[in-house]
Amino acid sequence: MIKGVDNKQPIGIFDSGIGGLTVANAINQILPNEQLIYFGDTAHLPYGDKSAESIKHYSERITDFLLAQDCKMVIIACNTASSVAFKNVVERTKGKAIAVNVIDPVAEYVATKFNDDKVGVIGTKGTINSRIYVRKIQSLNKSIKVTSLATPLLAPMVEEGYYNNYISQTIIDSYLSKKSLDRINALILACTHYPLIKPEVEKYYQNRVSIIDSAEIVANYVKMKLKGKMAVSSRRRLKHRFYVSDFTGSFEKSTKIFFKNKLHLDEARIWD
Ligand code: DGL
Repeated sequence: MIKGVDNKQPIGIFDSGIGGLTVANAINQILPNEQLIYFGDTAHLPYGDKSAESIKHYSERITDFLLAQDCKMVIIACNTASSVAFKNVVERTKGKAIAVNVIDPVAEYVATKFNDDKVGVIGTKGTINSRIYVRKIQSLNKSIKVTSLATPLLAPMVEEGYYNNYISQTIIDSYLSKKSLDRINALILACTHYPLIKPEVEKYYQNRVSIIDSAEIVANYVKMKLKGKMAVSSRRRLKHRFYVSDFTGSFEKSTKIFFKNKLHLDEARIWD
């Protein structure tokens, strides 16, 4: 419990763009009374092929923005930023807010649910090159073999609205047929854009593989973390706020894909 934190304070969530809205949406479903403040760093999208140093710098500055909005929790709703900048966000939020990443809840879930299994991970180059899933899962359960594959085309493809059609299915099939994912029992969708392509991934595997989508797992983890005095008690929720660092109409239009409703985006030019 962090001293002085009021339970009505909002939950801050950030991502490189609007993919993290899949996590925001899951939190909104599970914790409907909580106010959310979302920040999508569209000025720097994508994070997947940026250097760790740049992502750390962006994450620190965005965390400061969310803390200035009085957030009681800062959730990194991006696997790429979670894999390289979590320590920086923990440092920044110390004594002020709880820091959450999207990798630990999934690693814990996988480590308890599977045994002697081969688990695949797909994500951006940044996430996969960090080997964070391999390290975290194997430190929790040595019997699990973790194999990973960078799938850099998938996030921009979804962001452009290409999913659930023959072009996206062809790209997905081509990645999933790579040798490194041979004979897996489960596949972690290690990018917050990927819940949208879950039906296509399921179609490829025809129920032979468990598909793990982090949004719901992270939302349950957040609920557990806020238990007691940190959770909002009143039913009169304040309005959610959604910010991007570089506004375009097409981002606003795409919010519907990720959050189920079209949202109003405000521009916060934190980089000027
Ligand atoms: N949503 C980000 C993630 O979870 C990927 C998009 C990007 O490359 O910025 O890794």
